[in-house]
Order: sequence, then structure tokens, then C-alpha cells
Amino acid sequence: MNSSPIGVFDSGVGGLSLLRELRRLLPNEDFIYYGDRANAPYGAKTHGEILEISKGIVDVLLSRGAKAIVVACNTATAVAIEPLRAAYPNLPIIGIEPAVKPARVAGCKRVLVLATPVTVSESRFAALLRANSRDGCEFIGVPCHDLAFMIENDSTSEEIEEYLSSVFAPYRADGFDGIVLGCTHYPLVKDEITRAAGADVRVFDGSDGTARHTKALLSELSLDSWARKIGTVEFISSDGSDHLERFYNKFCI
Ligand code: DGL
Repeated sequence: MNSSPIGVFDSGVGGLSLLRELRRLLPNEDFIYYGDRANAPYGAKTHGEILEISKGIVDVLLSRGAKAIVVACNTATAVAIEPLRAAYPNLPIIGIEPAVKPARVAGCKRVLVLATPVTVSESRFAALLRANSRDGCEFIGVPCHDLAFMIENDSTSEEIEEYLSSVFAPYRADGFDGIVLGCTHYPLVKDEITRAAGADVRVFDGSDGTARHTKALLSELSLDSWARKIGTVEFISSDGSDHLERFYNKFCI
């Protein structure tokens, strides 16, 4: 069991930002990364569709011997993490959530939480923002309708910056000093986000915290790998392309 792989999934390339952190912290683990490009973007799907798709992917990863699952998608986490845990009670399932607490703890005062429309509309997201709206820190959920799709489909930096400038425009008058990346696609365009927001705006992303949590949980459950070799990654793309692997080798190594 300890030598079994960790299954990781997202709608496409977004979760590679988390896979990068997981490999940094868990270099001896093997991973299977499932990118569901045939169904992307999840941010435009219904609750029921995301739940059904997520269960199907967990079944594929289990059939490949996964010892734990990392849901490398904020949207699937917001919609499906509890039903998934209920459906697979003996399987460790780790989700990713927007790094709202680190933004508050860092002393930010007005923070935009960028996420897919589905994530922003979930009660789990509202509860997270409510719980952290204190110490003089205000959070505003900002649905980004096209951003994950643009990143998935190789939009240029200029196109992404132009899109982001229009997203930020309504919040300029009152200002903002923090941005939380509430979708795993967004860290892949962190430079564009920083340029569009302004250098004095701090940017927070949940990959590091999620990777640390995964490491701690595996160790607590005595599921961590004993291997001394550097772990491997197997990529599975539901559209049959090699896009994930090419993207990972280009941007994440
Ligand atoms: N990367 C995903 C997330 O973290 C999903 C983006 C999408 O497919 O809409 O929310």
C-alpha cells in the first residue's frame, strides 16, 4: 500500500500547479494525474454533473491502485468533497480550498477571492469567507467566468491580462490589497495576475497548504512511501491528448 500511487485530478491543467507542490514536498511518491479535459471547464457545469464526474474519476484512480486522492480542483472540492468522502469512507480524500486564512493572517484588509462561478455560488465558499471576515479583513468573492477556459486553451499573456483588468476594474475605486487564487488554474498565470492587479497587491494560493496537509495525513495514516527513488508521474487525459504532460514539462518543472 505504501508504494501505491497518489491519485490527483482536475478538469485539466489547473491541478498541475498543486501537483508541482506535491512533488516538491513528497519527492519519493508516485502520482497518477487525471486531467478531465473532455469535460472542462467544471466552472460551467451543474452541481450534479460535477459530482457524477468526480465519482467516475475516483473510480478510475482506484482501479489504478491509488492509495489516496487529492482533488486538485477548488470547484470539485466545493461541490463534491463531502459526498466523495461519504461514498469512499476508507479512502483518504484531500481537497483544496481558497487560501483565505493566510490572507487574513498576513494582515490584508480588502481581499478579492477569484474562483469559478460554481465555487463562488457554493455554501462552503460563503461559509469560508464568513468565518475569516474579521480582524478588519473583508473578503469579496469574484466569479471569473472565462479565466480557467482561457488558461486551459493557451490564451496569450496579453489576452489574460486584458481579461483580468476588466475583472478588477469595479474594485479599483475602493481598492484591494490582496488576491486569493481560488482555482488551481490561476497560479499558472500568477505573473499576469500580479501585473494586472499591481505590484503592491499580495497574492495567495492554497497549493502549498494543501500539499503540506497531504504529507501530514499520509504520515499520520502510515501510508507514506518508503521508497528512496524519485517518484514518477503518470498522466491520464480524458481527451486522449498529451497536453497535460507537455504543459507540466514546460511550466511546472
Ligand atoms: N481548476 C479548477 C478549480 O480549481 C476548475 C476550473 C474549471 O474547470 O472551471 O476550480
